[in-house]
Amino acid sequence: MRTVHTLKELRAMLRSYRQQGKRIGLVPTMGNLHEGHISLVRKAREAADIVVTTIFVNPMQFGVTEDLDTYPRTLIEDQERLDAAGSTLVFAPSNEEIYPQGLARQTRVIVPEVSEGHCGASRPGHFEGVATVVTILFNMVQPDIAVFGEKDYQQLAVIRKLTRDLMIPVEVIGSPTIREDDGLAKSSRNGFLTEEERAIAPVIYRTLQKTAEQIRKGRNDFVALEQEANEALSEAGLRPDYFNIANGLTLKPARAEDAELTLLVAAFLGTTRLIDNLSVTR
Ligand code: PAF
Repeated sequence: MRTVHTLKELRAMLRSYRQQGKRIGLVPTMGNLHEGHISLVRKAREAADIVVTTIFVNPMQFGVTEDLDTYPRTLIEDQERLDAAGSTLVFAPSNEEIYPQGLARQTRVIVPEVSEGHCGASRPGHFEGVATVVTILFNMVQPDIAVFGEKDYQQLAVIRKLTRDLMIPVEVIGSPTIREDDGLAKSSRNGFLTEEERAIAPVIYRTLQKTAEQIRKGRNDFVALEQEANEALSEAGLRPDYFNIANGLTLKPARAEDAELTLLVAAFLGTTRLIDNLSVTR
């Protein structure tokens, strides 16, 4: 497996793979890889001959009060894990390689509607940063397929829409959330939790499951269900940011007649913000 840092090197490698008729898969990441990311690489390998994993901590998607500076950077360990998982190439660009003119002068991609609620409401500008960097990475790599985790459900919806709306010829593939034995969704941010916070964290998934069960039993008083879920999170020692029951496709608030629902949650444990989701078909 090779690691390259510039677009020039990346394009030279990809040119030769394309000449050999290889199908190219992309797995965009911000590094600090865990089993969840590795499952994305495996999924990409199933659908493509060549897997390009990008490692770039994207400054544009972090708010001013967020954890950009402390976000873990672990390139050496990440390379070892990617090599073992079968990634063909790692692209680890600098900020200047992605945003040569700096963030202030960068053209940006705004994805209306699906970007707007949930994390979009709590983290203004976040999805603009994600949509912009993913569009740049799509143009740099020009992959046949790209794999993203379903753990970031809203992000996946944003990327699917931008790909459709901008007619980018890439197949976007969602990959299921990988969980710890106690149900906690694997996330790079889990490493920030203290022992005590880690013990509380599985309540997030349990609350999703309990709410989904209530919906399957026929409840559709969604506002009351959201309130009960927020109370359960607070009682356990979390600080809920939101717990929303949404239409699984539009991500708008669920209506009684919707068949495909997604429950989306974000909650703080200390200063660490964790997200998760669960889809329910009725
Ligand atoms: O999910 C992530 O790790 C990031 O949001 C992504 C898609 C790599 C864009 O920076």
